[in-house]
Amino acid sequence: MSPTSSRGMWSSRAGFILAAAGSAVGLGNIWGFPTQVGQGGGATFVVIYLACIFLICAPIMAGEIAIGRRTGLSPVGAFSALAPGRRWWLLGALGVLAGVGILSFYSVIAGWAVAYVWFTATGAVSGSPDDIGRFFAEFTGSGLISAFLAILVIGITAGVLLGGVRAGIERVTKLLMPLLALLLVALAVRAVTLPGAGEGLAYYLRPDLSRLADVGVFTSALGQAFFSLSLGMGCILTYGSYLSRQDGIAASALWIVALDTSIALLAGFIIFPVGFSIAGFDPTASGPGLIFTVLPRLFAEMPGGHLFGGAFFLLLSVAALTSTISLLEVPVSHCVDALGWTREKAVAAVAGAISVLAIPSALGNGAVGVFTSLPGLGMGFLDLMVTVWNEVALPVGGLLTAIFVGRIWGVDRALEELRAEGRWMPVPELWSFLLRWVCPAAIAMILVAALAALF
Ligand code: PFF
Repeated sequence: MSPTSSRGMWSSRAGFILAAAGSAVGLGNIWGFPTQVGQGGGATFVVIYLACIFLICAPIMAGEIAIGRRTGLSPVGAFSALAPGRRWWLLGALGVLAGVGILSFYSVIAGWAVAYVWFTATGAVSGSPDDIGRFFAEFTGSGLISAFLAILVIGITAGVLLGGVRAGIERVTKLLMPLLALLLVALAVRAVTLPGAGEGLAYYLRPDLSRLADVGVFTSALGQAFFSLSLGMGCILTYGSYLSRQDGIAASALWIVALDTSIALLAGFIIFPVGFSIAGFDPTASGPGLIFTVLPRLFAEMPGGHLFGGAFFLLLSVAALTSTISLLEVPVSHCVDALGWTREKAVAAVAGAISVLAIPSALGNGAVGVFTSLPGLGMGFLDLMVTVWNEVALPVGGLLTAIFVGRIWGVDRALEELRAEGRWMPVPELWSFLLRWVCPAAIAMILVAALAALF
C-alpha cells in the first residue's frame, strides 16, 4: 500500500487512514498533549483543544486532503497548480520549513523515548519520585547523549525513506498501533485506581473558568491541535495526493481525527492520576519531562512494571517513527519535485540539515546555558521551537489553507472533490461555513490576541 518512488496509490481507504493516523499519532498525543494540558491548567485546556479539533482542524483536514487528491502533487506544486501565477506556492514552502523545524526538536524527544525503552526495561530508572526526576535531569542534562540519540532517530528515519522498508514499517505499524492503544487502556485502568488519582482526574476533567482569560491557553491549544493532527504544513495534503478517487475524503478525515483525539485523551487519563498520586506534584512546572518523570512511577507500582514500561516506550518510539517519516517526507518530496534532486541527495541533504538544527534543542536541557535559557526570551531553545513551529507556523498554515480552499480554489470546486464518485459528505453547508468563516476568524483572533499579549 505504500506509495513509493513513482507516484503510487494507497491500496484502500483503510491504507490511507492508517498511514495518516500513523503520522498523526505520535509524541504529540502522548508527550505533547499531557504536557500542554499540565501547563495550560487542566480541563480548561482540554475543552478549548476539543473545540479547536472539531470546529477548526477537522474542516481544514478535509480541505487539505481534497487539494492533495485533486492535484496529485506535493504542497508547493499543488498550490501553484490550483492558483497558477500567484504566490500561493509560498504556503507550500512554509510547510517545507515547518517539516524541517518540527523534526529538529521532535527527534530529540523521540531519542529520549528510545533511551527510556532501555532505562525502564532494565530498571535503571526507579526509586522515589525524586530519584526518577533526578535521573531524567542528569540524562537530558548531558546534552551529548541527547544529540547523539536525536541524530540516530533522524538517521533511522532517513534510512526508512531511502531503503524502501517503508512498506514493512507500515505492516508492522498496523499491528503495533492497536497494541499501543490497548496498552494505554490497561495503563489508564491501573492509573485511575491509584490512591490520590481522584485529584488528578478532577484536574483533567473539571474546567477552571478563570483560565479562559489567558490567551496563552488558546494559542497552545490551537497549536497542539494542528501539531497532533499533522495539519497546516502539507503533510496530510501529501498523503491525500496518493488517495484514490473511489475513497471518501470526509469519512477518512473524521476517522483520522477520532483516532488521534482518542489516543491523546487516553494519555491524559494516565498521566494526571499518576502525577497527582505523587506528593507535591505540580503539573504546571513539569515541562517536557512530564511523561518521563511521571510514568516510571506508574511502572514501579505495577506487577511486571519493567515489562510494561519497556513495552510502552518501545511502542511510543514506533509511533514517533511513523510521524518522523511523514515529517521528513514533506521537505524531501519538495526537493525531488521542485529542485529535481534525486531522492538520495534530497534525503541526505535534508536529514543532514535537520541533524545540525537538532543540536541546540538537544543541548538546551541543562548542558549549555544559552540554549537552556535563551537570553531575553526566558525559554529554552526546544520551547522556542515548539512556540515558533507549533503555535505560529502551523496555525498560520492552517489559516491560509482555509482561506485558500474557501475563497481561492473555492468551496464548490472543493466540494466536487469531496463528493467525487458519490462519496459520503455530510452537511456540506456546515463544512463550508466553518471553513469560510469560523476557521479564518477564530485562528486570526487567537493569533492577534497572542501578538497583542506580547506587548
Ligand atoms: N502529529 C505528530 C504527533 O502528534 O506526534 C507530529 C507531526 C507529524 C506534526 C507530521 C506534523 C507533521 F507533518
